[in-house]
Order: sequence, then C-alpha cells, then structure tokens
Amino acid sequence: MSKVVALASCLGMLLCTSVQAAQPAAALDRPWLNPSLSPDARAKAAVAAMTLDEKMRLVFGYSDQALTEVSKVPDDVVSPELKAYVVTHLVKGSAGFVPGVPRIGIPDQTQTDASIGVRNSFIPSTALPSSLATAASFDPEVPRAGGAMIGAEARATGHNTMLAGGINLAREPRNGRNFEYAGEDPLLAGTMVGALINGIQSNRIISTIKHYAVNDQETLRTSLDVTISAEAMRQSDLLAFELAIEKSSPGSVMCSYNLINGRWGCENDYLLNTVLKHDWGFKGFVMSDWGAVHSTAPAANNGLDQFTGFCCKEDKPWFAPPAMKAALQSGELSHGRLDDMVERILWALFAKGPVDDPVKVTPIDYAANAAVSQRAAEESLVLLKNDGDLLPLRGVKSIAVIGGHADQGVLAGAGSSDVTPLGGDRKIGGHSYLPSPPLDALRRELPKTKIVFDAGTDHAAAAALAVQSEVTIVFVTRHNSEGSEASLTMVDNQDDLVAAVARANPKTIVVAETGGAIYMPWVDQVPAILEAFYPGIGGGPAIARTLTGKVNPSGHLPISFPASPDQLARPEIEGLGLPDGTPAAVSFDEGAAIGYKWYDMKGYKPLFWFGHGISFTRFAFSDLAAQADGKGIKASFSIRNLGKRQGKGVGQIYVAPADWKKAGWEAPKRLGAFAKTDLKPGKSQRIELTVDPRLLATYEAAGNNWHIRGGEYDVSIADSAATRAQSVRVKLPDTVWSAEHAGN
Ligand code: BGC
Repeated sequence: MSKVVALASCLGMLLCTSVQAAQPAAALDRPWLNPSLSPDARAKAAVAAMTLDEKMRLVFGYSDQALTEVSKVPDDVVSPELKAYVVTHLVKGSAGFVPGVPRIGIPDQTQTDASIGVRNSFIPSTALPSSLATAASFDPEVPRAGGAMIGAEARATGHNTMLAGGINLAREPRNGRNFEYAGEDPLLAGTMVGALINGIQSNRIISTIKHYAVNDQETLRTSLDVTISAEAMRQSDLLAFELAIEKSSPGSVMCSYNLINGRWGCENDYLLNTVLKHDWGFKGFVMSDWGAVHSTAPAANNGLDQFTGFCCKEDKPWFAPPAMKAALQSGELSHGRLDDMVERILWALFAKGPVDDPVKVTPIDYAANAAVSQRAAEESLVLLKNDGDLLPLRGVKSIAVIGGHADQGVLAGAGSSDVTPLGGDRKIGGHSYLPSPPLDALRRELPKTKIVFDAGTDHAAAAALAVQSEVTIVFVTRHNSEGSEASLTMVDNQDDLVAAVARANPKTIVVAETGGAIYMPWVDQVPAILEAFYPGIGGGPAIARTLTGKVNPSGHLPISFPASPDQLARPEIEGLGLPDGTPAAVSFDEGAAIGYKWYDMKGYKPLFWFGHGISFTRFAFSDLAAQADGKGIKASFSIRNLGKRQGKGVGQIYVAPADWKKAGWEAPKRLGAFAKTDLKPGKSQRIELTVDPRLLATYEAAGNNWHIRGGEYDVSIADSAATRAQSVRVKLPDTVWSAEHAGN
C-alpha cells in the first residue's frame, strides 16, 4: 500500500507514466492488476487507490474533434496537462478518447465506431455488409465472425473500445440508420447483435450496445421526445437490448440523444437505473452518445456513468472536473455515486480485457478479412423473387448491366459507421462506394459472356442496350445516412429506369443496394429481384457469385417492405423538415406492433414480409412437435432439401395465442425461434428449438412482471411471417414472474 500512496502523490502524468514503466505490476500492493481476482474485486481495489482527480479523468471523454478543438477549451475546465495528454495519446482519426490513469496501470479508452468496421479516417479497415444485411443471414455465426474480424482490426489499430452493437428496432422504415441496426424483430435483433458483440469482445476489448433507447428516427434526434408505454418498450426495443445484453455482456451501453417520456435518454432514471442496472443487473457503464448530456448531478444520479464525446468549446462540459467538483461540494452528487461510476468503467476494463491485454498496433491481413466480409455477404443476400427460375444465370451469351454505378463499386451507408477501405472509397454524388464493382466480378464469373455496361442515366439508351442483350441486370441504389431519413421511393428516376428496361427485355433482374426497405412499383414487371442491402467490401463478388449460382442465396428479410405509404404507422415523420434541435414530440402509438406485427395486426399485405427469402432449391418442413417446457415452449421439426442443389434453409417458429387480443398481445403472432441449416439435395435434419418465455408473455408495469396468459397457443413452422407450413397447439398455464433478472 505504501507504494500506492507514494505514487499517488506524483505530480505530472508523464512522470507517473515513467514510474509505472519502471515498476511493473506487483500483485501484492496493486491487487487490481491481479488477473486471478474477479473484475468486481479489482475494480473496487482500483477505485480505493485513486485520487479524486484520477477518478474524474475516467468519467469525461473527448470527441474526435479533440485534436483541433480541445486546445481551445479554457484551462480552468480542462487543465493544460490533461489537454496535452489527450492530444498526445488519442488515436488520430478515431471517434473518441478517455484518458486512463497510467500511475495505477489503467489504460486510456481509445474509442471508435464499428457498426460495419473500424472507423478511422486515417487507417484503412475492412467493411462488413451493413448490420441489417448480416441480420438477413439469420445465422448468428455470421455477425459473430464479422465481429471477431472487426475486433481484431480494432486491436491492430490501437482501439480498445468499439462503439458498435446498434440495435434500435426498425419501427420507422424510413429511419436513415436502419442499415446500422438489425431489423424489426426483438428476437432476431437481440440474437444477431449479441453475436456481433461476442465476436468483437472475443478480442479482449470492450464493445458498446447502442442507442439506448427508442432512438428510432433520425429527424430531430437530439430534441425529440418519444412517448411510449413501459409495456410497449419492454416488449419491443428494450426486449431486443435485454436479449442481446444477456447473450453478450457488452462492457458499455450507449444512451441515446432523444428524450423518452419527457426524460433525456442519458438522464433517464427509469431506463438507466430501474431497467438496465436494476432489473437486468448490468454491471458495465453507461456512456453518452456524443455530447448527449444535459446536466451534471441529475445525469449522474439518473444513471449516466461517462460523458463521452465532449467536443468543442461551445459544448457544456457537464462532467469536466470543475462541474463534478461543484456537484460533489454542494452534495447534489455523492462520492459514493462517483465511485460507482468509476467502478463500472473499471469493471468493463478489467472484465473485457483492455487492462490485461493492452491493444498493440500490428499489421492487418486485409485480403483474409475481405474474405470474411464476402462470406457474410454471401450468407445475407436475399432473393426476393425468381420467376421461371431465371436465376442462376446459365449459358447466357450477352448481358446488359445497367445503373447503380455497378462499374465502380457497391454503395455504403453514411455517418459515423463510414469505413475507409484499403485504397480509399469512391465518392459519387457525395455517396461512398466501396471498391468492389459487381460488373468486374460478373465478368470474372462469366468470361465467355459479352457483358456491356450502361450507366442508366439515359433510359432510352439503356432500353436499347437491353433489347440487344439476352439478359439485363439493373442495379438500383438507395442512400441512407445517420442524421437524416431515407425516402422509400427511390430517387433519380430509378423506378422509371427499371420499368423502361423491363419493357425492353422481359428477362430483367433487379439488384437493389439499399439501406432498408424501398417501394417497388415495378415488382410485377421483373421476374427476379435480389436485395443486397449494403453488401460490404466483398459485395461485388458476392452478388456475381449469387447471380451465377456459385452461391445459393440463403438470406431472409430482417424487415418487412411496405407496399405503399398508406401502410405506414405514421404517414409523416414527426418534425421532418424542421431545423435540428427544434423541440418536438412523437407518440409511438403502435407500441410493440412493429414491422410484420403491425401489418398483421392491421390486416395489411406488405410488398414482402419479414422472414421472406427464396433459394435455388426448395425446402419442406414436417413433423412439427411442440410442448410446454418450463415457462417456455420446446418445438422440433424436420427440414428437407427437396431440390437438386445444396442450400441453406431457415426454419422460423412463430407463436400465436388462440385469441391474441385476450392474451394482451400487440399483434396476432411473434417470432419465437429460428435456425439456419445447410442441406445437401434430398437430405433432411431434425431441429429442436426453445421459445423464450418472454416471447410468450406480456409485460405488466404495475408489478414489474412478465405474464403468460393461460390458454391455447398455436406454434407454427414457416419460412416467413406470411406462411405457415404446419401448426400445432400447445396449452400453457397462467404464469407470472418478476422481470428482474428475467433472463437468468
Ligand atoms: C452517433 C453514435 C456514434 C458517435 C461517435 C454519434 O453521432 O450517434 O452512434 O458512436 O457519434 O462517432
């Protein structure tokens, strides 16, 4: 202990660093550096050894603008020593930085975005398909492998905290960030995002999960007050978070910009203290979205542990040392709560690896990582229709490839998820294209076929080329970005282009690169449609190999595609067109009836249902059996490949009370379980799955309980939310249990 005290009195951080280097971890007098102790014990011991100034370093983080902006912050807000430390230690081009405490061996938190890959404007990295695309794989191994790749690149580029794990449900099909999230269903999203976080954290670094919560539209995201009942939240957006957190234990949860029921996301006692930390027993720390903080003591007391992304001198430094000290002095903030904040941050640093396995800059095998990304895309492309088995392309003499900048690359989403690929991306009309042109890949796959490209700007010229070609492939694109919404109607007359080309050549295939759902007014005019979402750095080859049959498509939609605007829950997005920061309110009256649940409940027929996706082979489901199992249901079924090609089938179990209104459900049915399996022609497999009891229950705020209403439930096996191959009935007893630690 004496050494700890002596070191605690050292003056400048640079001096402390050298002392630390000269005195490697001694387990006896620095118990927090002893990996055989629990992360809880280590965090407690480290907090006890820290000075007040050191504690305050950990709760206040700087944004990527810090390099240029932090020097302008007054010295009485951030001391010159700390400013110098930040500027010399952050990873240039990353999203954020929280200084560590070198004196006691606590590393800096080097934070960056990681929705689809490591975002750093100076360091190239590998772009996975968008999270919405990998969710379409319906195979958690795909985001897990992708996350492991991202985490490895993070380590190799000196980042130890990844701002990943986007899981806001696609409640609003026009939300500009839907491409960063994992679709409209809590079970699918929770499973896929949990797997991504597991992959990232397998590299001994921290991942967040974000943006907590119901930050489901981008319009006025920093000033919008969302009204939604606790019941609806717990059965939808929060359930997705709950499932993912249980599956992956992220080190941190990022609270969102918006208000929820009148309280800021990062100052929301109900969401942060009651649900996350109490009911779910979350041990990590809550970091703010970049600058999403509005107070000192109220934010800290309502559950925020770290103000992250402090930017510029205009920002209010709510968690900077002077503000924290004033709150402590006035008694508005207790030393106990500050210790808890620091302990939670340290817990994550000990439990997830950054203390024991510091990140180190090493070379990256970009070719190997691009292969991981291409495999993810090949599992995720969704074949929406294929009339007359036009696909896969066989023995075709000539192909017209039209539009979508298919000669340049594949579209990527914009905002903080933006990844700099090796060699840079291609900017066309202000949008980023990853250098993986489908045109080149098709030419590689079909060396004997005459393939001619037309940009698609002149529809008559495109149609003339289509007439001369045996088959036409039209690429359409829809740009999505953080900070704005995406129209479901495609821009730049692309609908007219498809219609003109389809009139000219009935053998027209559409490949859509979109951040989410789009309207397809030409859906009946084209025989084949492949939804590629944003397919990542291996997108070109993945599309070409699917169109030519090397890859048998196996993706299924993680979102429904509405047929027309009158099917949307809200005709207009609240606040659209108003300047950023304008106070506004929206009531999410559809509650937990999101996506297919909404269409089902309203009796609408969307263009394509959640779960839909076809293959070059056919699968049959049979012998469904189901029985009550604990509070949940155990279901088993057989799946057989009836076709002539090997392929991957996805079995989807839907559950439905005999009377959904009486059972208090938001909609007639819910996805209860799913599994993907690879089958050779003629082969079959028996699959057994369990339905989590929360997916059979309603949440009751009064007693903080989950409640399954006793009665008959239909259990169906299906390959989309619209079909059912077989159903059986199960009788469930009336069951009520506490929502505290419900997953344990
Ligand atoms: C985004 C977050 C992101 C952060 C840092 C914010 O604007 O909402 O998702 O992690 O910036 O880049």
